[in-house]
Amino acid sequence: MKFVSANLENLKELYLDQLQHLHSAETQITEALPKMIDKSTDPQLKQALRTHLQETQGHVARLERILQHAVGRVDSKKNKGIAALITEGEDIITDANSEAVRDAGIIAAAQKVEHYEMAAYGTMRNFAEILGLTQEADLLEQTLEEEKHADAVLTQISDSANTRAEKAA
Ligand SMILES: [Fe+2]
Ligand SMILES: [Fe+2]
Repeated sequence: MKFVSANLENLKELYLDQLQHLHSAETQITEALPKMIDKSTDPQLKQALRTHLQETQGHVARLERILQHAVGRVDSKKNKGIAALITEGEDIITDANSEAVRDAGIIAAAQKVEHYEMAAYGTMRNFAEILGLTQEADLLEQTLEEEKHADAVLTQISDSANTRAEKAA
């Protein structure tokens, strides 16, 4: 028996439903990143997160453009996956006793979020292509590339940050 659930009858409906969940994800990330920036110590990490916060605001704007065009309004659907990943990151921030370990933990948490986003945007771009929505596919591809880049930058920073964490008493 179904109570409050969306009926997804076709790929277009699944696509729009998932975009609404992504909109919620990106919005939650814009709210979580300032705390991660504040709690990180490594200047390179702080800068990378600041840059990605700006990019993330752009991701919200792109999704709003797509949803506005497709359905005439922006409805967000609570993204539980990202909410859980953000909570994981907040727990690490609370539990880490040294700055170096906290930095390593923030990178780990942030990369989990980037990988979630990479998976989601890869799928959404593919759906858009199959649905013949070329312009939307291009917008989703732009965001996908920014997520991949953010992840690569974090991997680079983790090199020295993880070594510092290993040395932390
Ligand atoms: Fe994003
Ligand atoms: Fe991201």
